[in-house]
Amino acid sequence: MPYILTPRAGDIPRINGARVYGQRPGHPFLFLIPATGKEPLTYAAENLPEGLSLDVKTGIISGAVKKAGTYIIHLSVSNEKGKDSRDLKIVIGKDLALTPPLGWNSWNCWGLSVDAEKVKAAADNMLSTGLARHGWSFINIDDGWEAPKRAANGEIVPNEKFPDMNNVTGYVHSKGMKMGIYSSPGPLTCGGYLGTYQHEQQDAKTWAKWGLDYIKYDWCSYSHIAKNNSLEELKKPYIIMHDALSKVDRDIVFSLCQYGMGEVWKWGAEVGGNLWRTTGDITDSWESMSGIGFNQTLNTQFAGPGHWNDPDMLVVGWVGWGPSLHPSRLTASEQYTHISLWALLSAPMLIGCDLTRLDDFTLNLLCNDEVLDIDQDPLGKQAAPVDKTETYQVWKKQMEDGSLAIGLFNTGNTESVVGIDFSKLGISGKHAIRDCWRQKDLGEFENHFEGKVPSHGVLLVRIR
Ligand code: GAL
Repeated sequence: MPYILTPRAGDIPRINGARVYGQRPGHPFLFLIPATGKEPLTYAAENLPEGLSLDVKTGIISGAVKKAGTYIIHLSVSNEKGKDSRDLKIVIGKDLALTPPLGWNSWNCWGLSVDAEKVKAAADNMLSTGLARHGWSFINIDDGWEAPKRAANGEIVPNEKFPDMNNVTGYVHSKGMKMGIYSSPGPLTCGGYLGTYQHEQQDAKTWAKWGLDYIKYDWCSYSHIAKNNSLEELKKPYIIMHDALSKVDRDIVFSLCQYGMGEVWKWGAEVGGNLWRTTGDITDSWESMSGIGFNQTLNTQFAGPGHWNDPDMLVVGWVGWGPSLHPSRLTASEQYTHISLWALLSAPMLIGCDLTRLDDFTLNLLCNDEVLDIDQDPLGKQAAPVDKTETYQVWKKQMEDGSLAIGLFNTGNTESVVGIDFSKLGISGKHAIRDCWRQKDLGEFENHFEGKVPSHGVLLVRIR
């Protein structure tokens, strides 16, 4: 049986999720205040900049802010049990994705069998399961939505599975969530659907017209267009699309997908990427997940607010690349490792499973605010290994408040004790340590910390 580690969110209100949020001047603004606590909750926001308003019943902040600047707003959420308050820093400027995007993508579950109803169901369940209360906010369609032919005027059109794209985005937005889509700079996508080649500005406009907030732009058949593998050729289609996106009147998060070619982490931000895939496709095996996760070491210094390394989407829950699904083949311990590692890496996290079929274990895994806080830390540092053998690894992430997030991973085949000397973490003396999965203080430790870790599992702690 999968073991559940995290206590359920309590009845007393708690505000969760990102502490900083970016949007561009004059563009549509949408932010759902993620909060847990017994319903009904009442939301409030002080010092909202001109142009924004809050729905006090749903917690959705919307509108548009004309004037660039940094605005510190004060959020509070209350119910019959109490109240929680905290600041949210809104930066109206040029950067988006000031923290790694959190959401859902259709690929790892539905593959090419995605359709409008499945996407709407994902949005419904993002709310009804409570995921949205922990900061999960994007609903992204991957490959498989495109019609085989463009309209007479050259416009891209969705296929019969998406009869009305505006209806889907409107539905998702009305719930306070964002909507994403997928294309390729080549003539065809990886799934053989129509790509954007030679229609870049037109497609960017269409996506904006549909109200999209995110585009994953996947190299695929562009390999037949690129003259060679030079950096210039690798960058070219992304520069063109970034330029096209910058001319539309919406903010569209730009997700580069070209599997890490040309060490994309070194130039992904320069071509306007908010995130870039660093690897080939993930699958739900220990070899794949751990092989990707533990190898994110050459790109460490390139992650930061607005531009993230993307080690690919999550493989927890019911996955299968469509149409038939199976429960993730990762063990429970391996799934704790997956989420811990992605959080330490400041990785974008897109849930890849069927949200209508979330079991208690998977939901528990995705709703731990102390773990998500590690991922969403405003400083945006990516963790790096500080100690490593054949059978264990210890990774360290510097947090904004001066604390450290530490993952003690057992990569061996038997349960064992994994420990770390404080000298290897660059600290000394006595420190309070908290277990993030169990949300439990472990006490004060001097010079050394260790704990029992199951095979392929992790102990994720915060050291203050
Ligand atoms: C792959 C990509 C996957 C998925 C797929 C769609 O190239 O890495 O994440 O988007 O194409 O066809």
